[in-house]
Parts: sequence; C-alpha cells; structure tokens
Amino acid sequence: MQATAIAQPNIALIKYWGKRDVARNLPAVGSISITLRDLYTRMQVEFDATLAADELTVNDAPDQRMLPRLSACLDRVAGERRSRARITSTCNFPIAAGLASSASSFAALTMAGAAAAGRDASADELASLAGQGSGSAARSLLGGFVELANTDDDIQVRNLLGPADWPLAVVVAITQAGPKPVGSTEAMEISRETSPFYKSWIDDQPQDLDAARTAILGRDFDRLGAIAEHNCLKMHSIMWASRPPVVYWNAATMRCLQTVRHLQGDGVPVFFTIDAGPQVKAVCLPEAADRVEAALRETPGVIDIMTSGLGTGARLEDES
Ligand code: DP6
Repeated sequence: MQATAIAQPNIALIKYWGKRDVARNLPAVGSISITLRDLYTRMQVEFDATLAADELTVNDAPDQRMLPRLSACLDRVAGERRSRARITSTCNFPIAAGLASSASSFAALTMAGAAAAGRDASADELASLAGQGSGSAARSLLGGFVELANTDDDIQVRNLLGPADWPLAVVVAITQAGPKPVGSTEAMEISRETSPFYKSWIDDQPQDLDAARTAILGRDFDRLGAIAEHNCLKMHSIMWASRPPVVYWNAATMRCLQTVRHLQGDGVPVFFTIDAGPQVKAVCLPEAADRVEAALRETPGVIDIMTSGLGTGARLEDES
C-alpha cells in the first residue's frame, strides 16, 4: 500500500497552451518537450485506512496548497473509494515558479499512486491519468525528447529521441523567487476566452510541431532553436493580448533574452524558451553550457542559475 516514484520536470519547446476539454483537462494542442536530469520531485504515497483525510508534506513541512489537486489525482488513479493517503513530496527546485513543478509532481504521484494501489496501468493509461492532473505531467513520464499528441478523446505521449541520442543542456536563469501571481491553468482559460490570437495559435500549432519534430530527428540545432523561440513568443503574445493581460516577464527576463541574442551573435549554439513564469531557460549544446551559464549569471537581475542535462522518464523507486 506504499510506493515511491521520482520524476523530472520537462521544458516544452513547442508549448501546450489552452484546453479543448476543461473538465477532463485535455489540451487543445499537441506539444514537444525535453525532460531534465538534475531537477526532481520524489513522491511517496502511502494508503492508510486509519487516516481521516489525505495528508501532504512538501520538503518536510505540512502543506495544504496542492492537496486538493493531488487528492483528486489519487481518486482517479486508485478510485474514489480508496483509503486516505499520506503523500510525502520532496523537490530540489522552487515550486510553482514556472519551473514545471506540477509536471514532475503529477507524473511522480500518478506512478506512485498506481503502484501503491496495486493498479497495473499501461503506459497510455498512466499518460492519461497524469495529464488529467496537469497537462504537462504526461510528458515527464518519458525521458529525452517527448511528443504529446491528441488522440480522439485522450492524449498519448511518445519518445522522439532518448536523452543520450542528442544530449542538450538547459541553463535555467531564475529571475524571481516565489510563486507566480496567476497559475497556468487559470491563465490558459483567460487566453482561450479573450485573446484575439488564440485561434491562430491553435490553427498553426501542427506546423510548429512538424518543424520541431523534423529538427529533432535531424539533430538540427539551429532549426530547433528558431521554431522553439517562435513558438514561445507566440504563446506569450497570446497572453499579453488577453483581457486581463497576463504578463509573466520582468525586466530581468528581457535582459536574459538579450544575453541569449548576444551569445547567438557570437556564434554560441543556444536558444531561449520561457514558460508561465519569469524564468528563462537557455537550451544549448553541452560544450556551450559553461559560457551560457557565465553570461546569464552576469545578467543583471538573475538571482540564481541551475544547469541540467537531459534525463530519463518517471520511475518507481521502491515498492512495498
Ligand atoms: C507554459 O501543465 O501546468 O508550461 O494542465 O492546467 O496543469 P495544467 O497546465 P500546465 O501548463 C503548462 C504550460 C506551459 C507550457 C508547457 O509545459 O507545455
């Protein structure tokens, strides 16, 4: 009745933004991401019939914030008549700050919850369950380069390349600590309901997915960078043009983009992407990581840097 799973966050290169079914949390578009190696969330789930309610501790402290969503995820994984659970989460990076903590959390919780409940879920079932917890979480079930595709009434994830097939590095520049003002779930709905650019975003996403998939399979760094930056800036344009506007960037976010542009001007193989938060992720070839890290560290307003290679998908740590 107890299991532990570990999952890494993933960074989308072609973004998921918008839902086609809010109740089932189905995305409106496909997406492509890379799974990181050095950041992790570990989730232990212990079902205990003597508990009156689910309990959550995050990094050794009781924490109620994520509990309703995590409990709902366990209801889907183990059934609503399940015993209550003790959920113990450990995470080595800032939570809810635009670093995809929900992706690694729900991937690890889904896997640990299924194992603790003795449910022998298929890979497609796990993806569907993780995705209902958080859309991006389904991608963290797999490592390396991952594509999430919409099927008729669900989602599917598949590997495009493994982490060792094209070992890119990701330098994360933290420009602001603490949780973001508007969560991505809410911001996506504001975009869908009010942004004049939302429809063209949905219509054009298949083209961006094709371009990125081709670049990844051909290991064409320049092409991947061009389409990833374009797709990221389109996603933020949708938010900027919505009502109310959703602007996650701060001055340091913009300065980091300028740093990346300068590096590119010097011939350094690097491109940027930004998720629902003010942090900048600079994706580069491994030999450029030190230089990219040094340049971002010197950029005014950057408060911390985390560098990671690409990693494997979610996995069980132990079972009992
Ligand atoms: C900008 O997966 O956090 O990071 O399904 O509502 O939980 P919910 O959203 P979430 O959104 C991720 C948005 C993004 C882009 C991406 O990861 O593809």
